[in-house]
Amino acid sequence: MDIRQQKNPLASRDDWYTPRWVIDTLGPFDLDPCAAPADVRPFQTAPTMWTEKDDGLNRQWNGVVWMNPPYSRVLLRQFCEKMARHNNGIALLINRQDNVLWQEVIFPTAMSMIFMRHRVRFIRPDGTTGNPFFGSCLVAWGYKCDRRLRQSGIEGKYVALNVGQF
Ligand SMILES: C[S@@+](CC[C@H](N)C(=O)[O-])C[C@H]1O[C@@H](n2cnc3c(N)ncnc32)[C@H](O)[C@@H]1O
Repeated sequence: MDIRQQKNPLASRDDWYTPRWVIDTLGPFDLDPCAAPADVRPFQTAPTMWTEKDDGLNRQWNGVVWMNPPYSRVLLRQFCEKMARHNNGIALLINRQDNVLWQEVIFPTAMSMIFMRHRVRFIRPDGTTGNPFFGSCLVAWGYKCDRRLRQSGIEGKYVALNVGQF
């Protein structure tokens, strides 16, 4: 395993779940295609939740999607590419804008984003909360979700990426 991943739990573990206030503020969502396993998930992120067992990546996505994706590089890119094609949803992502994923997939396709002012206190499978080593951002695909971001009141810097371009 890559030494950087060993030192960085966010890069090697997927068990960092979204706090409820984020979903309450930005939702409701129709689908979470990369949901936590049913026995450890802290609450419902959407009426339809697909876990790793369901392989949400290779199913047909419908409606407004909530996406806090797995962090491994390949899966992360595949989920973001699928969201870009679906073009109707909001993702919670690590701030890594120098990364090829941002340059090649997110910046060309997403409508807007918020650089979050505060670190998100993610929920661990045992119910405790913890701060990651990185800041987070919220990314919207599609006009409906751009409006949700703009009107959310979430502290941070809103940036229009492709508003008016598509
Ligand atoms: C960072 S967690 C976020 C969980 C949830 N979406 C949330 O917002 O709290 C990412 C989840 O994706 C799941 N996952 C990994 N590969 C998946 C796949 N192919 N299909 C669906 N879920 C997957 C992992 O098991 C993990 O629970």
